[in-house]
Amino acid sequence: MMSTPDVLIGARAVVFDAYGTLLDVHSAVQRHANSVGPDAKSLSDTWRQKQLEYSWVLSLCGRYTAFWTLTERALDHALARHPNVDPSLRPTLLEAYRRLDAYPEVPATLVAIRAKELKTGILSNGDTAMLDIAVQSAALHDHLDAVLSVDPARVFKTSPRAYDLAPERLGVDRREIVFVSSNRWDVAGAAAYGFTPVWVNRVRQPEEYPDLAPVQMIDSLDGLLR
Ligand code: LAC
Repeated sequence: MMSTPDVLIGARAVVFDAYGTLLDVHSAVQRHANSVGPDAKSLSDTWRQKQLEYSWVLSLCGRYTAFWTLTERALDHALARHPNVDPSLRPTLLEAYRRLDAYPEVPATLVAIRAKELKTGILSNGDTAMLDIAVQSAALHDHLDAVLSVDPARVFKTSPRAYDLAPERLGVDRREIVFVSSNRWDVAGAAAYGFTPVWVNRVRQPEEYPDLAPVQMIDSLDGLLR
């Protein structure tokens, strides 16, 4: 039997970010790359960046709009900035975003974490409806003890009020939660909050937020179990 990796010793739950961490946000545009054309990567990057920017700006000024609406608005902006992309692809791309691909190692990682008698969960900026569809379509529902949206807090990560939902709903102290995200800004928020943060640095991004470091950096989720 495999020994328990250091980062999981003393933990009672492993909570994941959803978009970019379990689900590949770029798989929506990639699935339709032929129709989108040569601007596919730039469109997808702008879509993601604007979606996140809207979440931070609204949170800072005390407003909240469901993440699905922000996702739609961000795509509208990205399409406007890429006039070579056919705007009639909008509904097709949004439908693909509802049903993103999970990264290949996700199901086996969740099963292995549970086999160590740790709880598994998601804490995402995604609203409840979009998360439920995404988790079902990626067939992850059987492997998760909790799928938590920031919706009830009506504020996005990196607000501590958003992170509060995980210890509250899982009934686990924040220090006993390993929080895993591929988004370095989310790892910073999790570190500030008092989770044990792990950064999934799939694409070898340079380090940021030196005062809010992860306890471990891995290059895919199976690194949690090594
Ligand atoms: C999430 C996105 C924003 O919270 O990565 O799932």
